[in-house]
Amino acid sequence: EHDSTVSIVVVGASGDLAKKKIFPALFALYYEDCLPKHFTVFGYARSKMTDAELRDMVSRTLTCRIDKRENCSEKMEQFLKRCFYHSGQYDSEKNFAELDTKLRDHEGGRVSNRLFYLSIPPNIFTEVVKCASKSASSANGWTRVIVEKPFGRDAESSAALTRDLKQYLVEDQIFRIDHYLGKELVENLSVLRFSNLIFEPLWSRQYIRNVQFIFSEDFGTEGRGGYFDNYGIIRDIMQNHLLQILALFAMETPVSLDAEDVRNEKVKVLRSMKPLQLENVVVGQYKSHTKGGVTYPAYTDDKTVPKGSLTPTFAAAALFINNARWDGVPFLMKAGKALHSKIAEIRVQFRHVPGNLFNRSFGTDLDRATNELVIRVQPDEGIYLKINNKVPGLAMRLDRSNLNLHYAARYSKEIPDAYERLLLDAIEGERRLFIRSDELDAAWALFTPVLKELEEKKVMPEFYPYGSRGPVGAHYLAARHNVQWGDISAEHPQV
Ligand code: BG6
Repeated sequence: EHDSTVSIVVVGASGDLAKKKIFPALFALYYEDCLPKHFTVFGYARSKMTDAELRDMVSRTLTCRIDKRENCSEKMEQFLKRCFYHSGQYDSEKNFAELDTKLRDHEGGRVSNRLFYLSIPPNIFTEVVKCASKSASSANGWTRVIVEKPFGRDAESSAALTRDLKQYLVEDQIFRIDHYLGKELVENLSVLRFSNLIFEPLWSRQYIRNVQFIFSEDFGTEGRGGYFDNYGIIRDIMQNHLLQILALFAMETPVSLDAEDVRNEKVKVLRSMKPLQLENVVVGQYKSHTKGGVTYPAYTDDKTVPKGSLTPTFAAAALFINNARWDGVPFLMKAGKALHSKIAEIRVQFRHVPGNLFNRSFGTDLDRATNELVIRVQPDEGIYLKINNKVPGLAMRLDRSNLNLHYAARYSKEIPDAYERLLLDAIEGERRLFIRSDELDAAWALFTPVLKELEEKKVMPEFYPYGSRGPVGAHYLAARHNVQWGDISAEHPQV
């Protein structure tokens, strides 16, 4: 290992994802001494650029952690010296062979390991994988490829993509990213469940009344309309990010923390899910709204979005898991753009305390005041449990209070970006947080029929004003399943 090298090739080096996430994450790993001793970063794209120009571009994307300003610019210089560029076509084996020559130079005869990060549009995934595997894969070490969604837009196109990739790669070489799996609190879900005695016994239909997965952004799709319109919020957020969290939340205890054991349990729970029905889905789209003299655009004001597009920018869904643990428990999802807040969280609402002791004697409304566990994925990470508590004093008065684990207060450490965790895992060959192809198939099987129905029936989205709480339909959907959405705004940001 000591005498091996890792070359990280960022294909699509001048793209948005590369600049926003990949280069900064690589630098953060370098700063933390997490990268192997011998590594190089290669940018690959069509535009002509010198190494110096790439370094200049990369340098503008790098930042230092708040608590690690020391030596930061020095470290940046050292990092940039390890960055190079090769210009080539995405479908040219010849250009990839030239890249191979450059990589060999840098590897200097050591065992060479190569990681290709495909930061490119999905329609060229297969071409690039073909060229890279034929002309630039490692001769004596491993070759891995990181791909990121969209993995097709339904069960069939996703399966076709998998088939195409597997002409050139085996499953073990493919690292499918769902960056939500790299988020600290999502990773912590298993720790919370399986290393504390007090949660797992409650983790079933017996005590849990419903579970909510909520994603909301306070900005629209401006500038990304071209991509977004072909996918919509269900494919953009629910079928992957929220469903992955659900799987981790609901799976049975894995045999071990090994990648295959964990992923086996996730697939099992996904395959146990009841097909999602149109009646259990609400879709919305944001419309223009003027507030305080500022006019916020409608989704369809974006030049890259076709007029009259019905693509949902908001969706809510009620899902069910047909197994012994979760039979009948609604798992609600809600995801939307251009809403009033930016938040991602999991809410677990517990059943009523049986017996009504306090209601009877004191008239407090404990009916609504059931326990609720909230896992706030972002921002301002935290976990809190709402409990009923006696207000101190001579009277017997109850209120709801939080047992509160607030990350900023408890841990004085900046939380690494999801891409840092995932890149590091890919380099180390740890596959637990990457999506296996059977998992992907199961996720698509769940959503594909309803996605098709929405499109075939041209279901009208419910329009909601930019910056609002989204369509009221989401409340009716929840109410039909006896659920009230957790009240985010009442709790944020004072927790
Ligand atoms: C991406 C979606 O996968 O996740 C985007 O395509 C979304 O639409 C983004 O904005 C949200 O990620 P994060 O990490 O900013 O919450």
